[in-house]
Amino acid sequence: MYDAGKIIPGLIIFVGLMLFAIFNNAGSKVEAPKLEKPVGVKECVKPVKYMKESHMELLNVWRDEVIREGKREMIEVEGKLYEKSLQNGCMRCHTSKKKFCDVCHEFASVYPYCWDCHVAPQADMALQEAK
Ligand code: HEC
Ligand code: HEC
Ligand code: HEC
Repeated sequence: MYDAGKIIPGLIIFVGLMLFAIFNNAGSKVEAPKLEKPVGVKECVKPVKYMKESHMELLNVWRDEVIREGKREMIEVEGKLYEKSLQNGCMRCHTSKKKFCDVCHEFASVYPYCWDCHVAPQADMALQEAK
């Protein structure tokens, strides 16, 4: 009737399955938004960890350097040169504001006002076509 040889392993498996279910589920609930990664490049202008946390500060630094100090020297990434610019730098690689910047900002409820003046890639294309 009481068979420790079966009950104990049974209990271990049961607890294991429960824990698996809990952790598996917990992991999927806090899933970060899916971002469109740039095609053909692997690196950002700075290490990814820094970019995740501090890209807004870097943008301010770039803006100040370019506009206030006239330091327009290019940034090199994987042997190619990029402008220190929102639309002609960042968006050269991150070609969709919607599928990259916006996805994350909506998730975090931040709405940068930069695009009041700066042109996002699609609008940029339309402008070029109109010329
Ligand atoms: C040379 C192309 C290139 C340029 C220019 C560039 N990036 Fe990136 N960026 C990348 C790539 C590639 C990744 C993904 C790296 C990875 O996942 O390992 C990335 C990652 C990021 C991430 C982290 C995304 C994540 O996975 O959480 C942010 C934020 C970001 N970039 C913002 C910017 C901003 C803002 C600028 C301009 C200041 C910029 N990037 C300029 C190529 C670029
Ligand atoms: C990995 C997620 C993520 C991606 C991708 C991302 N951002 Fe952000 N961004 C954030 C978060 C989170 C904040 C708010 C940070 C804070 O308030 O400290 C933020 C804030 C900003 C701010 C400052 C806004 C303010 O009101 O303070 C700017 C500017 C900005 N992002 C630009 C961009 C641009 C441009 C891109 C696309 C090239 C981009 N970000 C992509 C997560 C992201
Ligand atoms: C009121 C309009 C306006 C707003 C809003 C604005 N900018 Fe700008 N920004 C400009 C102008 C004008 C320049 C000068 C362009 C030049 O001389 O190359 C500039 C230049 C820049 C530059 C350097 C050169 C370039 O072409 O990108 C960066 C980087 C920049 N802005 C980032 C930002 C960011 C990040 C935000 C949002 C937090 C923002 N700007 C909001 C008008 C604006």
